[in-house]
Amino acid sequence: MTTTPRRYHITTFGCQMNKADSERMAGILEDMGFEWSEDPNDASLILYNTCTIRDNAEQKVYSYLGRQAKRKLEQPDLTLIVAGCVAQQEGEALLRRVPELDLVMGPQHANRLEDLLEQVFNGNQVVATEAVHIMEDITKPRRDSAVTAWVNVIYGCNERCTYCVVPNVRGVEQSRTPEAIRREVEELASQGYTEITLLGQNIDAYGRDLPGVTPEGRHKHTLTDLLYFIHDVPGIERIRFATSHPRYFTERLIKACAELPKVCEHFHIPFQSGDNEILKAMARGYTQEKYRRIINTIRSYMPDAAISADAIVGFPGETEAQFENTLKLVEEIGFDLLNTAAYSPRPGTPAAVWSNQLSEEVKADRLQRLNHLVSIKAFERSQRYQNRIEEVLVEDQNPKDLTQVMGRTRGNRLTFFPGNISELKGQIVKVKITEVRAFSLTGERIFQPSPVECLTV
Ligand code: SAH
Ligand code: SF4
Ligand code: F3S
Repeated sequence: MTTTPRRYHITTFGCQMNKADSERMAGILEDMGFEWSEDPNDASLILYNTCTIRDNAEQKVYSYLGRQAKRKLEQPDLTLIVAGCVAQQEGEALLRRVPELDLVMGPQHANRLEDLLEQVFNGNQVVATEAVHIMEDITKPRRDSAVTAWVNVIYGCNERCTYCVVPNVRGVEQSRTPEAIRREVEELASQGYTEITLLGQNIDAYGRDLPGVTPEGRHKHTLTDLLYFIHDVPGIERIRFATSHPRYFTERLIKACAELPKVCEHFHIPFQSGDNEILKAMARGYTQEKYRRIINTIRSYMPDAAISADAIVGFPGETEAQFENTLKLVEEIGFDLLNTAAYSPRPGTPAAVWSNQLSEEVKADRLQRLNHLVSIKAFERSQRYQNRIEEVLVEDQNPKDLTQVMGRTRGNRLTFFPGNISELKGQIVKVKITEVRAFSLTGERIFQPSPVECLTV
């Protein structure tokens, strides 16, 4: 007797870590015989991989969940799963709030999805949120892109930034071994991937939980060593990494990036605030002067490097003058991209219970002022691309104009140009930039060698 395969749907909220976890969970489900359904209403297994970094991220999850919980009343064989950071934060409480749920699983349990589902199919309602050693991934992820892939290198975070839920929901740092990472990168290369992004919440912490020290007293395995270790994998043309923490960012790493041709000149280094008192209250462990020194050092090695960051406005107690220090930093550094957010008090974090919270009006006003400055500065930064020849790794068709393809420059700028996706997907091509906008570029493919190459031939 043949049965129609069950269909699954995953909606992913939040950061790249969650995206990578979703790809692994999708791989597990497909190994189990499930088939992907784009429309959640056609699926009999729905998994929400959730984010709780700010209150609005969490509320979004509840509104999605409410709709599917209603559906379950008419369709009792529907399997409903909440994974990720809301699952970890709320645990059992989620079952009380949404009794229709079958499985609540924290991010550390992503690779255990098959085991957990077996318990569900045996008739249990399951909560998996205890701290565990993360299993080395033995399944094949179902990756969203055929060109560029995420590679987790360190899970969790040992920092205690006073606003942040991540250490509570992602647990302590756990680095994968360099050998396991290299094996995954080799496998990706053999599948035709051209670009990889190494991932960690605090990627500079990579290796400090692995054994071994060098004769100079350094940890034996650092992010810098890892870059050297994986750099020669044939077929991989570009290597990126995120997210960097200013407290641990080293000149040794900057040198490696300048020296290793595959490592792209793009740095994502959140600064959060341009004011030293606020940085101290956030427990970030650096000053704005140190942050500026890092950017200056990067630019002294790689003058054209793209710099992006995250910032928070309206942290408890932030005065107008302190906020202006953030504006000043943004004005002076000139970021290529800045992710901005108004401070959101999170359960279980120290700053949430401080008495000096700012009003929503003040936060919204500062966010708007900062965003305005960011778009002006990003547009200014974009100007340097005009008429330049950039290497673009083609990822996809431009969904808004099917005569064009899109990809990214080494500096991570989204770039569109006329072309045929079936011919160009996964290729790195030279594109002359003809039009610049704040966050994207348009150009045309060039076939002649660039003048620089002519000189060196
Ligand atoms: N590990 C990274 C970022 C993790 S979370 C780092 O250390 O920078 C991603 C971003 O969300 C943060 O950089 C911060 O800007 C923002 N964020 C985190 N907690 C927040 C909160 N409570 N309110 C507003 N923004 C927050
Ligand atoms: Fe959160 Fe700070 Fe860890 Fe980043 S470094 S994840 S902001 S606690
Ligand atoms: Fe959100 Fe969890 Fe990432 S809280 S930002 S999905 S680590």
